[in-house]
Amino acid sequence: MSQEPTEPAGPDLSQGVALADLAGGKLVGHVGSDEILLVRSGDAVFAVSAHCSHYHGPLVDGIVVDGGVRCPWHHACFDLRSGEAVRAPALSPLECWTVEQRDGRVYVKGKREPKPRTRLDTVAPRRIVIVGGGAAGFAAAEMLRRRGYDGSIVMLSQDSAPPVDRPNLSKDYLAGSAPEDWLPLRADEFYAENHIDLRLSAEVVGVDIKSRQVLIAGGERLPYDRLLLATGAEPVRLPIPGADQPHVHTLRSLADCRAIIASAKGARRAVVIGASFIGLEAAAALRAREIEVHVVAPEARPMERVLGPGMGDFVRALHEEHGVIFHLQDTVTAIDGGRATLKSGGVIEADVVVVGVGVRPRLTLAEKAGLALDRGVVVNDYLETSAPGVYAAGDIARWPDRHSGETIRVEHWVVAERQGQVAACNMLGLTEKFDAVPFFWSQHYDVPINYVGHAEKWDEIAIDGDIKGKDCLLRYKRGGRVLAVASIFRDVESLQAELAMERGEAV
Ligand SMILES: Cc1cc2nc3c(=O)[nH]c(=O)nc-3n(C[C@H](O)[C@H](O)[C@H](O)COP(=O)(O)OP(=O)(O)OC[C@H]3O[C@@H](n4cnc5c(N)ncnc54)[C@H](O)[C@@H]3O)c2cc1C
Ligand code: FES
Repeated sequence: MSQEPTEPAGPDLSQGVALADLAGGKLVGHVGSDEILLVRSGDAVFAVSAHCSHYHGPLVDGIVVDGGVRCPWHHACFDLRSGEAVRAPALSPLECWTVEQRDGRVYVKGKREPKPRTRLDTVAPRRIVIVGGGAAGFAAAEMLRRRGYDGSIVMLSQDSAPPVDRPNLSKDYLAGSAPEDWLPLRADEFYAENHIDLRLSAEVVGVDIKSRQVLIAGGERLPYDRLLLATGAEPVRLPIPGADQPHVHTLRSLADCRAIIASAKGARRAVVIGASFIGLEAAAALRAREIEVHVVAPEARPMERVLGPGMGDFVRALHEEHGVIFHLQDTVTAIDGGRATLKSGGVIEADVVVVGVGVRPRLTLAEKAGLALDRGVVVNDYLETSAPGVYAAGDIARWPDRHSGETIRVEHWVVAERQGQVAACNMLGLTEKFDAVPFFWSQHYDVPINYVGHAEKWDEIAIDGDIKGKDCLLRYKRGGRVLAVASIFRDVESLQAELAMERGEAV
């Protein structure tokens, strides 16, 4: 089959465009086959890749703030001067081009080398150990090298695979529409090339705070000057008969996901226990594999606790349109071979069962080490724990969130990565506060839900637009103050809400 060559977008920028055409601030054009975003910021004009280095989001649909462009899809931010991905989830820089302004026109010339960051001028520690090869652990290691740290980094991960794009495990990869080579956050060579000693299937069993050593299963002791704990969370397992059978799965690691895919091959029917984000994303992915899917959950509406009743009803209807069968206000009491018995008395025959009933932060190490805990590892503004030199980031960390005025712990990919990055800077003595507004996204079929802020409880939800029409922005308020915003296809408003929260302005 021959593929039609696609025309590159917009005008040929090597021929120049009138500065007046940039009145809106952004414009997409091309040079050769490269699609380029031209951005006017004050008197300066920048030319960078038109698409985000995370999942290829169209940056022209994002917003420009303080010399950076923010991606509409998952809120990554890139520095326009250097192309650097300054905020996760993007980790790779954008390409940059030289721009010339002449006679009221802007010309894009050749590609220019990305500007490396200025080197560290702090006295850096020599030995950094990271426990965890997930979002926070990887982002920290990558940022340490990006900032010019040249001491040793040992990253210990209980996973058998190098760090992967975990959110994809319940989405395109599980659905069969993304190949496995999309999953690694970096190619295998990255670790050796960057002198990151990544040790897989390595379990850390203790931390001796006094002697500053990490104890690895098998007996090895590893000294550290700075330590990052990023042990994430583990799926809650159901204490019901039959939950230990090989076709009953939880979903956290690539190995879990591969096991679900293996069970799903040739399966006719699946039961998903739990209507959580992961449970429902897994349901959608299994529907894409043309498997009949039953979701069993105790709540009356999926996701109501996080998103409220309107979104809950919408999410349920969306999944029903795609053929998912819900058994709400019900639970599975036993799994006997291929038969799942419900509390209500029914029985569902299932070839594969996915349990998505929530996760528990992995706190054992922190607890054994004597760190201060409060439904998570307590950290300060700089993500340092109660033990000097020991930091925590990601799903385990409970930090003082200045936006809600509370100490919070969340289970979001972007937050974990951003915390890993800030912890890395602080391990190098750069004293950066973690003050990012929490953000997460979830994908159900072709509908993305974006969420900024944090609202555990609210007294009002103001709905702008039409939830059923997939064009809406919901403000979760307490005492008249907006704590969080959820949206569907309102990307610019979601970015603006995040910005307003960062600046402490009304949303
Ligand atoms: C299937 C799935 C889909 C998701 N989708 C989304 C999404 O769409 N959007 C979103 O915002 N969030 C999503 N999340 C949540 C997100 O992935 C987590 O919030 C994020 O991974 C947390 O990062 P972390 O670094 O804290 O933990 P993890 O990424 O879980 O990494 C923890 C690491 O610590 C290691 N570890 C733990 N204990 C030890 C030990 N004792 N010794 C050595 N290593 C240890 C583990 O092996 C692992 O490598 C999803 C999660 C899953 C499982
Ligand atoms: S596509 Fe840009 S942040 Fe995900």
